[in-house]
Amino acid sequence: MSLSGKAVVVTGASQGIGLAIVTDAIAQGARVAGVARTARPELKATGAHPIAVDLATAEGPAEAVGQAADVLGGIDVLINNVGAFDARLEGFGAITDAQWQYTFEVNFFSAVRAIRAALPSLLERQGAIVNISSIRGRFPQPATVDYGASKAALTNLGKALAEELGPRGVRINTVSPGPTRTPAWESEHGIGATLAAAGGSTVADFLTGFPAKAGFNTGRLTEPAEVAALVLFLASGQARNINGADYVIDGGQSKTV
Ligand SMILES: NC(=O)c1ccc[n+]([C@@H]2O[C@H](COP(=O)([O-])OP(=O)(O)OC[C@H]3O[C@@H](n4cnc5c(N)ncnc54)[C@H](OP(=O)(O)O)[C@@H]3O)[C@@H](O)[C@H]2O)c1
Repeated sequence: MSLSGKAVVVTGASQGIGLAIVTDAIAQGARVAGVARTARPELKATGAHPIAVDLATAEGPAEAVGQAADVLGGIDVLINNVGAFDARLEGFGAITDAQWQYTFEVNFFSAVRAIRAALPSLLERQGAIVNISSIRGRFPQPATVDYGASKAALTNLGKALAEELGPRGVRINTVSPGPTRTPAWESEHGIGATLAAAGGSTVADFLTGFPAKAGFNTGRLTEPAEVAALVLFLASGQARNINGADYVIDGGQSKTV
């Protein structure tokens, strides 16, 4: 039932939600390979095997999965967490083909390619996949139009693949977080800084008022460790009859049933 001894691959592993998943998986006794473009000290400090690969390239995901399978001796769990988003405050017409292309490469094709590469091992070991999507895949907004479209595609992929892979013993589920307290929101260069500057405030002031303004009825952003706990539950044997599901974790921001 537990992840103890399992071989787990986490993409986008060096900070934020990915680093929290790595940390939690290792605490549960898993053997973990963490992929990011740079093997940062924070990732190395977890005890995970760092793999430095750009996942937004055609060859990157297969290269990363191959290295992970070599170092771990196979793959039981694949967590497709890598992703990136920018605020598009200039409107739809200002988003270039190159920006659309990169958004889909990093958020969608990274997962398509990683799943394809890991599938032989996952089938052999009757493993599990968890894709990290976003509530923007369900609740589109103009300022994240390309990101939302790429995450909607990722959520859709999970549902379709569950139909094909479920009967073959591999589960695939999706987790859709709302705004989560990662560097994407807190750093001076992320979406939080962009939105704060657009409203003429500092990042700190923006984040103080944001939960109420955005309708989080818990009053705060989600913590990366809270997303990690949900992800690893879905990856574990405790969730062995959950397949093709999409779990929202958003502090009550979504208002529909
Ligand atoms: N934070 C939120 O509010 C939120 C909400 C909903 C969904 N999500 C989703 O949750 C996931 C994690 O978000 P986060 O906020 O934790 O992200 P983050 O803090 O920006 O971290 C992104 C991670 O991915 C790595 N990465 C970025 N581009 C990469 C590339 N081309 N190849 C390989 N690695 C790459 C980064 O390391 P390097 O820079 O070293 O490569 C880093 O480890 C994403 O899929 C995101 O869309 C986040």
